[in-house]
Amino acid sequence: MGWSMSNSGIAGPAAAVLLAGATLAAAEPSPMRQKELIHMVRQDCGSCHGMTLRGGLGPALLPATLADKPVDGLVATIIGGRAGTAMPPWHRFLAEDEARWIVARLMEGFPQ
Ligand code: HEC
Repeated sequence: MGWSMSNSGIAGPAAAVLLAGATLAAAEPSPMRQKELIHMVRQDCGSCHGMTLRGGLGPALLPATLADKPVDGLVATIIGGRAGTAMPPWHRFLAEDEARWIVARLMEGFPQ
C-alpha cells in the first residue's frame, strides 16, 4: 500500500486523502481508497466470508444478516477481530473510519 499507517487510526485516512489530492472530510475515504477497500473486502474478506459475501468459513455479510446488529460492534469486530474465532483483527490495514465505511456499505448492499 502506498502510505504508512499509524496505530492511532487518525493518520491513515488523512494521509490517504492527502495522497489522493482529494478534499473530502476525513471520515469518508477518498474515491481511490474506496476502490481499494471494495477490492480488499471482495478479495481478503471474501476468502472467508465468500466472494459474494454470502458466507463461508465466516458468516454472511449481507444487509439482511447484519440488519439487527449494532454498527459499533461490527466495526469493533473488524478492527479488533474476534478472539477465539477465525476472524482476524484488521487494525494494521484499516483505520476505524474505514471499517465504519465498510460496515455502512455492507449494510446497504456492498458495491461490486
Ligand atoms: C480468516 C477468515 C476471515 C477473514 C479473512 C475475515 N473474517 Fe470476518 N469473520 C470470520 C469469522 C469466522 C467470523 C465469525 C466470528 C464469530 O464466530 O463470532 C467473522 C465475523 C465477522 C463480522 C461479524 C459478523 C456478525 O454477524 O456479527 C464482520 C462484520 C466481519 N467478520 C467482517 C470482516 C471483514 C470486513 C473482513 C475483511 C476486512 C473480514 N471479516 C475478514 C472470519 C474471517
